[in-house]
Amino acid sequence: MLLPRQTRLALFLLSNLFFIPIAFSLVEEQEQFTEELLLKPLPDRKVLSHFHFQSRAPPTASYGHHHRLFPKAIYHLVHKYRIREMELSFTQGRWNYERWGGFDPISSNNAKPPGVELWAVFDVPEHLVDAYWKNLTHTLSGLFCASINFLESSTTYAAPEWGFRPFTGSLRYGSLPREAVCTENLTPWLKLLPCRDKAGLSALLERPSIYKGFYHSQQLHLTSAEFKSAELDSGIILEQTLTVVLQPGTKRTGLAYFQPSWSISSIFGKQITGKCVLAKSSSVFLQIESDAVSELKNLWKENGMSVKSNEMSKNLWSNPYFELSIAPDRVREASSFNSDSSSIFYEFFIQKYSRSESFDLGLTWKSPFVWSCPKAPLHATRFLMGSGNERGSVAITLRTTELNWRLMDADISEETCKLRVDIFQMVPWYVKVYYHTLLVFVDEKPQALIDVVERMHVSPSEDKVSPGLMELALKLPCRLNSAALTIEFSKGFLHIDEYPPDANQGFDIPSAVISFPSFKTRLHFPNDDSVSYLPLLSKLQASTFVCMQERSPVLSYTEVLLVPLTTPDFSMPYNVITITCTVFALYFGSLLNVLRRRVGEEERILKKKAANKKTNRISILLSKFFAKLRGRPWEPPESPVSSLSSPKLLLKVIVVAAVAAGWQYYSSK
Ligand SMILES: *[C@@H]1O[C@H](CO)[C@@H](O)[C@H](O)[C@H]1NC(C)=O
Repeated sequence: MLLPRQTRLALFLLSNLFFIPIAFSLVEEQEQFTEELLLKPLPDRKVLSHFHFQSRAPPTASYGHHHRLFPKAIYHLVHKYRIREMELSFTQGRWNYERWGGFDPISSNNAKPPGVELWAVFDVPEHLVDAYWKNLTHTLSGLFCASINFLESSTTYAAPEWGFRPFTGSLRYGSLPREAVCTENLTPWLKLLPCRDKAGLSALLERPSIYKGFYHSQQLHLTSAEFKSAELDSGIILEQTLTVVLQPGTKRTGLAYFQPSWSISSIFGKQITGKCVLAKSSSVFLQIESDAVSELKNLWKENGMSVKSNEMSKNLWSNPYFELSIAPDRVREASSFNSDSSSIFYEFFIQKYSRSESFDLGLTWKSPFVWSCPKAPLHATRFLMGSGNERGSVAITLRTTELNWRLMDADISEETCKLRVDIFQMVPWYVKVYYHTLLVFVDEKPQALIDVVERMHVSPSEDKVSPGLMELALKLPCRLNSAALTIEFSKGFLHIDEYPPDANQGFDIPSAVISFPSFKTRLHFPNDDSVSYLPLLSKLQASTFVCMQERSPVLSYTEVLLVPLTTPDFSMPYNVITITCTVFALYFGSLLNVLRRRVGEEERILKKKAANKKTNRISILLSKFFAKLRGRPWEPPESPVSSLSSPKLLLKVIVVAAVAAGWQYYSSK
């Protein structure tokens, strides 16, 4: 037992001796788990909470297969399906790009389309990718109690070439816009954490408080460097994030334009009682957006206070506009690429707190204060045009936002300045898109495609086999107000078995992805090396890994479209069946009634009645007659007039028999 471990240690030390100077001083030969929470007040009186849990497993080659912290299910998943990168998100609600921002890393990475979205990159030969994808969807749907296995069918997923992520061939993308997300998806997600939801920051995740939010997105991002084609030797990194937009309890603060004051216990109904003991670091951040910071500085100046930026950020946690209930342990400033001023991150170390002394950060606003979030360069919306159940068209419009154009990468003053916009859209096969009808308008004037389309990749849908895919790179003039593109489609017919149970609701077309490759969302922490030990901040900064830098363009999702298709009248067969059944029931019911009526029973009733009433002779005669007919001795009558003997009832029986006979006669004709 002892020897292998020692040799392993020796090997590890040796390898470290050689490798540390080269590149990866960051990559530690240990499993590691960190938990972080970012809180950010939003301009529309809401609060963004972003939980970030990261587990890291060292490379199998040097560490082996046994893990203490890293979830075994995920380790097996990576190895069985040879996953290089994977992202699975469960989302409820729609991210409000106009109010909650569209330029920062959180909105680009964590604002997701409603329902389930899954994409994965496999490290297998291209002809095997589909088989691996199918098995992966089944495993994930078992793991997360969701119908991810619907993504198995080739009509629901696509293989983007370059419009979504730059992995040609081995990338698959699928989305289920109608999947409902609930606690049964969250519980397996929490089970992957070493402390589950019993301790640490995840203990805040009380189901009622997080599901009553305006937006809720639970994500799992997996990066692995276990296979040969990886450039870095960093093992497997599992990032679990949960992004929730909540409205703090509406305590009346007097004026409507006051931001609501809140605290962790008022948002989540709980306080933080220390960190998860297995976590290497545990921190809470409160971010004040750059726009709010510059607003504060202006107000500061007006009030005649000194604005030394350094001093200001130190004292900013208690100022005439807002106040934090706990002094931050550390204050960091981060500059972004689209703004002059920097946003401020207040950091709180959670290891100081315990059950007896719990952490309950509060933010109290003291004066009315207004700011706005940084928005994406263009705001995208998508809608349907046309009427009727045969044809229609999809339109995507892009409107400029008040972005600070000066700070764009490209040179804006020139005539030749171009803004690149990538559009990725996948449509199900029953929406048959005619790609030749693509029209592009810039400032409401139609454009020749050759002028505005830089690159285009289209794979048309095939009936009941594959969805249609469009990847489009537009180069638009920088000084535009709006751009629009329209594309026509006709609606296909489905087989009756292919309709979902609520077909009349319409069919969902998954969100299109709009990205702006010339804009980067990264924040930059100047002169701050310690950021690299905090996965959340280094992800916002995205400089830990070289490859990540290319992959953080500003990205937004459009709305899901609801297309009404021609649906058969599912109620008609039902109506026909019910009316036929009613008629048959009437017919056979009355026929059987007549045929199976027991005469003996009638007699007894007759006798009984006669005895009671001493009735008329006819009935006695009749009963005598019936008795004779059967060859039985006549008993003195006890029953009164039977139904048979009453002429009215007799008539009824005859009528029913006649109707039945007539029916039979006519129906047999
Ligand atoms: C996928 O699953 C099927 C059935 O379990 C199995 O036969 C097949 O080998 C698996 N394929 C891959 C690529 O794992």
